[in-house]
Amino acid sequence: MPNPTTEYRRVARLFHWGMAALVLAMIPAGMTMVQPGIDRSLQNTLFIFHKNAGVLLLVLVVLRLLYRWRHPPAPLPDDVPGWQHRAAGLSHAALYALLVIVPVAGYVRVKAGGFPIETLDRLGVPPLVARSDALAETAKTIHYFGGIALGLLVGLHIAAAVYHGVVRKDQVFARMWPPFARPKS
Ligand code: HEM
Ligand code: HEM
Repeated sequence: MPNPTTEYRRVARLFHWGMAALVLAMIPAGMTMVQPGIDRSLQNTLFIFHKNAGVLLLVLVVLRLLYRWRHPPAPLPDDVPGWQHRAAGLSHAALYALLVIVPVAGYVRVKAGGFPIETLDRLGVPPLVARSDALAETAKTIHYFGGIALGLLVGLHIAAAVYHGVVRKDQVFARMWPPFARPKS
């Protein structure tokens, strides 16, 4: 079992890596499906994947934040400089904020625009926003810039993880890796 006083718990790791894989698929899927001239059936498949996996991500981030609230992560190792503590805190908070804002804006863009979200519709979940082209356009803009900000921040985040794992060779990367934590010998 991971040691919860120094590293992330098993459930936190599963949330992290499961959601990381989904987000890393969502960004290129979103960017590809809006390209003009793209094959129609590929576009449909990407839209269906993007909307439904996006709603799943929203559910997962809420569960993840509840879990984090009940099980706060261990503090960073003492040898990590203060500015890096603050940078990690700020960037993680911004990642969580964008992981909520981007899918909510996507949901509003689709439902206010009068389009389907196949799994929610099949489950009989009613639209939570009224049909409105103006609202759909505003949500589309928020989704667009939020998606770009999330992509940039994830890039920075991965660079920081590689810096810790390869340059500093400290314990920070091993706090979150591997996804299925090995028992400590
Ligand atoms: C879309 C992709 C990703 C997202 C949205 C994401 C998000 C996050 C968030 C929100 C945290 C803070 C966890 C918490 O304290 O509750 C975190 C921690 C971490 N992530 Fe990611 N992550 C992503 C991909 C990656 C990748 C690809 C790597 C490695 C190359 C990575 C390495 C780490 C590490 C090492 C930590 C722990 C940092 C610490 O000890 O404080 N992440 N990630
Ligand atoms: C973390 C989750 C999500 C990420 C990272 C993400 C990211 C993206 C990106 C990068 C784009 C291409 C840029 C653009 O044209 O806006 C996009 C487009 C789009 N996304 Fe998402 N998205 C997410 C969740 C959702 C959800 C939950 C929905 C709807 C239920 C959704 C619906 C859309 C739609 C409809 C477009 C096309 C925008 C347009 O109307 O032109 N997305 N998304």
